[in-house]
Amino acid sequence: MKHFKLFFLAVAVFVAVSCNYERGEADYDVVPLPQSITLLGGEPFVLNSKTKIVYDANEPQMERNAVFLSEYIKQITGLKLKYEPADGSNYDNNIVISIDREGYMENDEGYMISVGKEGGAIVAKSPAGVFYGIQTLRKSLPIGKFGTVELPNASINDVPLFGYRGMHLDVSRHFFDKEFVKRYIDIIALHNINTFHWHLTDDQGWRVEIKKYPKLTEIGSMRSHTVVGKDFESSDETPHGGFYTQEDIKEVVAYAAERYITIIPEIDLPGHMLAALASYPELGCTGEQYEVWPRWGITEKVLCPGKDGTVQFLKDVMDEIMELFPSEYIHIGGDECPKDHWKVCPDCQARIKAEKLYAKDGHTAEQRLQSWLTSEIEKYINDHGRRIIGWDEILEGGLAPNATVMSWRGITGGVTAANMGHDVIMVPYSHFYFDYYQSEDRDNEPLAIGGFIPVEKVYEFNPFPEEVDPSLHGHILGVQANVWCEYIKTTDHVEYMALPRMAALCEVQWRPAEVRDYEDFLDRMEHHLAIYDHLGYNYAKHIVPDL
Ligand code: ACM
Ligand code: ZN
Repeated sequence: MKHFKLFFLAVAVFVAVSCNYERGEADYDVVPLPQSITLLGGEPFVLNSKTKIVYDANEPQMERNAVFLSEYIKQITGLKLKYEPADGSNYDNNIVISIDREGYMENDEGYMISVGKEGGAIVAKSPAGVFYGIQTLRKSLPIGKFGTVELPNASINDVPLFGYRGMHLDVSRHFFDKEFVKRYIDIIALHNINTFHWHLTDDQGWRVEIKKYPKLTEIGSMRSHTVVGKDFESSDETPHGGFYTQEDIKEVVAYAAERYITIIPEIDLPGHMLAALASYPELGCTGEQYEVWPRWGITEKVLCPGKDGTVQFLKDVMDEIMELFPSEYIHIGGDECPKDHWKVCPDCQARIKAEKLYAKDGHTAEQRLQSWLTSEIEKYINDHGRRIIGWDEILEGGLAPNATVMSWRGITGGVTAANMGHDVIMVPYSHFYFDYYQSEDRDNEPLAIGGFIPVEKVYEFNPFPEEVDPSLHGHILGVQANVWCEYIKTTDHVEYMALPRMAALCEVQWRPAEVRDYEDFLDRMEHHLAIYDHLGYNYAKHIVPDL
């Protein structure tokens, strides 16, 4: 009997040691790298299945943060940790997450992590800061199935460089369902990104339900076919469409908010509106029967700002958009709007006359007509307590008074706007168009729109150009990358184009240029790519050595 007991004990120990009870060690050198990591030495904190996550139940969102931490630890290490509200008693073998509103931390999104032999703590000024501390802890964990994980004693202090850290997705050219959008939000949360710019409307498809204008989705969400590759005369003979109901939108907005991500919706106007024109032809200059566009590029078929109905339509759409999206900013597009039709449209010319929008200061009358429309919509949005962002073309007819400029055609628009005292978001296509190729070996890449933006190019971006006086640097709110989807039809392909360039982007958003080091970043990417593998994200492998 005794022998039997010993035998079972030996088997139990063997099983425990060989599978369940493997030991791992955390490494805080994650992406993005925290601003300061001080390793304190001594005996580490040993995370095990008895470790509890303790949270402050008086603070909203902290239970959810505790759940995130517990889920992430399980996902990465297999360890299942319980979580419970703090009751002031046991602080051994716990990870305590708490808010310190009065502390010395200035930035709402900064955080501190302290690890000592007895346990760990994440403290921040806001639940969002705690969330970024949780992300850092999550990314520092070893991947696998562990019985225990050692966390080296350390003091970590972190704060993001920018308050606006954006990532964009075009769902008009190809539609991606809400489940993928949530997955994309998870991916951007992994990179400490706090803004999702959702490009919801364009010539090739209108993707958001607007109750007052049902034809926008009945007609505008579907195109009869799509061109094949870059042959604009061809057809795949397959209808393509899809849209989000208002309930879908609310669900996605709430999902993002739980992850401290604000969604900025874009209703691109007055160009890139062919899907709306196909639904309501009376909004155009010619009244012809428009069609949702099956090809890519820039069309001269744009909204008619000369017609009062067009202005009313935009205000009505904005009413529903502002109801759905609580973001401070609404993106009104403004890019690539040819003015050929406006030059000959009696309504547009009458508007120019009535509003005295004659050519002035190097702007044509028609450019000033676009600015007039932008300002009308801006006023409406401002009156509702919100602000507009527009692509840098909105500078062309004179900038609307409170507009924030998204500089995409290089940094010039951003420089001009910042020097005028306007806020700016840097999205230059030289560095942040993730629809561009990642390799010069195009034959071995999926078809892309063009260009060449490898990870290193993303990484080297300096968000503060010399041409902007340091006293105006505060107007540069942040940096974003865009994923336009003309040539991206599948979710795997979206991930391939976004990753790992998003990792370089997030380090540009989080860390000052002076302290960034590309070689060090590459070293840290080994573990970051292992996290992508573990979570099943598809990514481009160009930075992996020996491939
Ligand atoms: C843009 O890429 N047309 C903003
Ligand atoms: Zn017109």
